[in-house]
Amino acid sequence: MALNVVIMAAGKGTRMKSTLPKVLHRLAGRPLLQHVLDAAAPLQAARTVLITGHGAEAVEAMAAGSGAVYARQMPQLGTGHAVQQAAPLLDDEATTTVVLNGDVPLVQTATIAALAAACGGTRLALLTVELADATGYGRILRKGDAVQAIVEHKDASPAQRAIREVYTGIMAAPTAALRRWLAQLTNDNAQGEYYLTDVVALAAAEGVAVVAAPASGETEVLGVNSPQQLADLERRFQAANALRLMEAGVRLADPARLDVRGTLTCGADVEIDVNCVFEGRVVLGDGVRVGPNCVIRDAEIGPGTAIHAFTHIDEAVVGAGALIGPYARLRPGAALADEVHIGNFVEVKNSTLARGAKANHLAYLGDATVGERVNFGAGSITANYDGANKHRTVIGNDVHVGSNCVLVAPLVLGDGATIGGGSTLSKDAPAGALTVARARPVTLPGWHRPRKTPAR
Ligand code: UD1
Ligand code: MG
Repeated sequence: MALNVVIMAAGKGTRMKSTLPKVLHRLAGRPLLQHVLDAAAPLQAARTVLITGHGAEAVEAMAAGSGAVYARQMPQLGTGHAVQQAAPLLDDEATTTVVLNGDVPLVQTATIAALAAACGGTRLALLTVELADATGYGRILRKGDAVQAIVEHKDASPAQRAIREVYTGIMAAPTAALRRWLAQLTNDNAQGEYYLTDVVALAAAEGVAVVAAPASGETEVLGVNSPQQLADLERRFQAANALRLMEAGVRLADPARLDVRGTLTCGADVEIDVNCVFEGRVVLGDGVRVGPNCVIRDAEIGPGTAIHAFTHIDEAVVGAGALIGPYARLRPGAALADEVHIGNFVEVKNSTLARGAKANHLAYLGDATVGERVNFGAGSITANYDGANKHRTVIGNDVHVGSNCVLVAPLVLGDGATIGGGSTLSKDAPAGALTVARARPVTLPGWHRPRKTPAR
């Protein structure tokens, strides 16, 4: 069944008290509107119309690539007025039109699909929910079982305000009838707005069936109007995600102290300690252990590897059986083979480390190719940047770099080379030999320590 999808995203979001348009605020790392676009995408709508207004340029820029077309609503005269702007862009061959809210981010694809099916191009289908406190919402008015109208909170009588069945802001309507109803809306109400919800009474008056489909739960229909509501939805989203991970066998020290802003894929027997943040696409192999307070973004971690506390990993790949951290930093382009050890205060950027290589303390490896079993000493660094260009350091297998060395790239250290501690090395070191590049120690006989001159 072909569909039109209309997403309302013109509102200002005054209560966010932010210069950023409301639908661009992020939930689990993605803009609110992106969640709605992602939920609608599998429905393969013939036409997706995004209604923009406040911050239209930024909102449209975010949605670029989604395939949506834009209808600008200036000024914003209500939800009915908003959908009126979309009407000229609707595809008439798509006989069902779904209306979604850009600030209701957790709506499920299956729910939208079921609502569209309930409409079936002939009925008006409303997504509803029962709320303990329905303040502010449009109430569903019924005669017997049949839905007659929606009355907005501000227009409702005390008896109507006692109704707990509310409209979620999401509906599916027959496209041709929707056009007809939109043309008949007036703004004769408490807010002086054109209410989309008035189409319900118009449908009932025409004898078009109005059906109310319940949402799967409250969470998927909650809107974001304030930072408090945004934080509440973030926690609900994260709690549901943590539950899914635990159901798949992941052991979380505390499901309330995990944040996944993207996709986290875990093998068997993965353990994650408290306060970890995962961003982008992260894959943890079987038996990976992640210590507390780690931030891991766009990374793959091999089986059996331990990531110790306070480690930061960004666009990196780590092999099996590796030990990383505590306090390690893997930056983009770090590719670590199996059994590599990276210890505290070690930074690795755009470098490959072969099997068993170790940099255990206070080091920097940038633009380096590091061989197997290399030991890179405490305080040693690659000086990869000459102020204009980056250069590579190539370290062969079984090289031992002593402590506090500066390897001035471009540089090649042959297999089995040993570099004496404290060396500043600006030319290649041959294989299998000890190279030392520092001043020889000198002892001055007869030297006396200065003494304080007595005061006069
Ligand atoms: C609306 C419904 C109410 C429902 C509630 C659910 C109407 C008249 N009322 O009320 O029955 O219970 O949602 O949350 O529809 N928007 C525009 N242009 C406008 C006005 C709004 O694009 O001119 C957008 C907003 O950005 C928002 C959505 O439409 O995404 C809903 O608008 P909002 O003002 O929040 O409607 P409510 O008063 O909450
Ligand atoms: Mg609202």
